[in-house]
Amino acid sequence: MSKYTLNINGKRQTVDVEADTPLLWALRDGLGLVGAKYGCGAGQCGACTVHIDGAPTRSCLMPVSSLGNQKITTIEGLHREHQHPLQQAWQELDVPQCGYCQSGQIMSACALLKQHPRPTDAQIDEAMAGNLCRCATYTRIRAGIHRAAE
Ligand code: FES
Repeated sequence: MSKYTLNINGKRQTVDVEADTPLLWALRDGLGLVGAKYGCGAGQCGACTVHIDGAPTRSCLMPVSSLGNQKITTIEGLHREHQHPLQQAWQELDVPQCGYCQSGQIMSACALLKQHPRPTDAQIDEAMAGNLCRCATYTRIRAGIHRAAE
């Protein structure tokens, strides 16, 4: 085990883990940030999505030892004083069903809106293609992104 100091949600936080521990487990088990979820552990479902230097990243595949001082943002760090427009839209439109994948969905949607503040359906579908939802809430996710972009 070794200590790694990470830049998470604007704070420097230290975890004591093996070098190859995926960021997902450092967040969940080491720091109690359980918003990012374990789905497949293979980069295929998007449930574990966080931002690293603003880019949506599968935290299940990212070894803690590879991170250095990169800026990590989790769903817990998305809003500061006010709810993020995506979280507000998700509530207003009752987007989640079981909810398991939704933090990953929101993190990917957030990165999309930074790149395309008024995304088209095609841009949404392309950006969100790697985030799977077993309840098939895709239509509401798309509507939520449009609502947040208003
Ligand atoms: Fe990371 Fe599925 S748990 S992509």
